[in-house]
Amino acid sequence: MLIRNKQSWEMPEHMATPEDVYLNRRQILAAMGFGLAAGMGIMPKLAAAAIEGFPAKRNPSFTLDRDLTPEDEATSYTNFYEFGSSKNISRKAKRLKPDPWSLTIDGMVEEKITINADELIKKLGDQEERLYRHRCVEAWAMAVPWTGIPLEKLVRFARPTASAKYLRFETFHNPDIAPGQRQQWYPWPYVEGITVDEAMNVLPMLVTGIYGKALPNQNGAPIRIILPWKYGFKSIKSISRITFTDEKPVSFWEELQAKEYGFWANVNPEYDHPRWSQKTERLLGSGERVPTQLYNGYAEQVAGLYANMPQDRSLFF
Ligand code: MTE
Repeated sequence: MLIRNKQSWEMPEHMATPEDVYLNRRQILAAMGFGLAAGMGIMPKLAAAAIEGFPAKRNPSFTLDRDLTPEDEATSYTNFYEFGSSKNISRKAKRLKPDPWSLTIDGMVEEKITINADELIKKLGDQEERLYRHRCVEAWAMAVPWTGIPLEKLVRFARPTASAKYLRFETFHNPDIAPGQRQQWYPWPYVEGITVDEAMNVLPMLVTGIYGKALPNQNGAPIRIILPWKYGFKSIKSISRITFTDEKPVSFWEELQAKEYGFWANVNPEYDHPRWSQKTERLLGSGERVPTQLYNGYAEQVAGLYANMPQDRSLFF
């Protein structure tokens, strides 16, 4: 992905929430009597309750042509720019608090919904496990058991109006816990988008877990999307808002570098990234190089979505 050097004016991490400001806020609240009220349970609180349903029953329709990536590789080598531009951000990502987690569904829907992640999953039904290939635009790949709910169920739950054509996803925005979000040359918050037709396909999942357990923070806790036929940057993590809209969303990477990261981003070995080949991919774990597959091997499920569109580069970058 696009890497830039730290700027001289970037705020060091330890300055994020100066201790005196924090203490002062506590003193003010105490003086107003809030400390006592909260202690007595009078203050309204977001109830913390973990998402349930792990391990979920495996859906046997989704099988793999390769070994699963070792869990420690898939959970330690990742991209989550909110916590830095290196692959190993799991320590920094511990600052993310995924429970309780509020999610808003708005825009072109019958009614705006704000709901806790665990309640949303309960309402959407039983979770299932699927084995999927997953291919980053940087040409590394993994094969992973994801736990979650077909995205189609979320769309039905949201009750979009007839004019809605796209889903726009947004990640949390909190520079106090996510040092990457203090780097102001990035267009925070992270945004991604797909069409409603794509969301209704059998493959996309609203994901809450990996390897039979709740998602670790670095993989996008508590809720993310997985779109296995698209480059990994489309699979947005730690989602706090889903907006139904008739305007094509501009994604985080598209806004930074539209010539390199497009809206469709469907995997295709024939269309190279401007700066490197997409013909092969490197498997995390074994390090083996294998041929990249059209739609990452999911053409049977998704090629029909694009049958009436120009079959040119714009579909595949
Ligand atoms: N989502 C957010 N919010 N921030 C990110 O930096 N990186 C993307 C995607 N989702 C990213 C994100 C990229 S480039 C990839 S390859 C995948 O997450 C990697 O995550 P995974 O290894 O957990 O699948």
